[in-house]
Amino acid sequence: MKPTLFAVLLSSLLFAGQAMADNKTSDAKGDPKIGKMLVSQKCSRCHDDSVYSRPDHKIKSYDALVARIRACNANTNAGLFPDDEAHIAAYLNLNYYHFKK
Ligand code: HEC
Repeated sequence: MKPTLFAVLLSSLLFAGQAMADNKTSDAKGDPKIGKMLVSQKCSRCHDDSVYSRPDHKIKSYDALVARIRACNANTNAGLFPDDEAHIAAYLNLNYYHFKK
């Protein structure tokens, strides 16, 4: 293997490790700040934020929350990527649901 190629491979491995370490500081893998922005842009067409905080809300676990976000994303053709769904889950959990994962 050429030394330059080796250096490129090594630095990309280090970079990936760093990115994973950074992610641990926010909520698992989602960033609530990005999630908040996405929710206000993409999610207010059918329901406002009160569905997340109503006393009889339907979502009872973090996994169900992620599944619901995915279903709503599919309904809306919002075109969210899995990362976006993780950001939204982090935001909604931090502000409304408070599930332990
Ligand atoms: C096409 C309409 C529509 C859009 C747009 C939409 N949703 Fe929903 N969402 C619904 C419906 C319908 C329900 C069920 C309401 C109920 O059960 O009374 C719901 C419920 C939810 C719940 C569960 C609330 C509870 O009871 O705990 C979550 C979480 C949620 N939506 C997230 C999102 C997110 C995040 C987005 C943006 C990606 C979004 N929704 C966009 C239709 C939509």
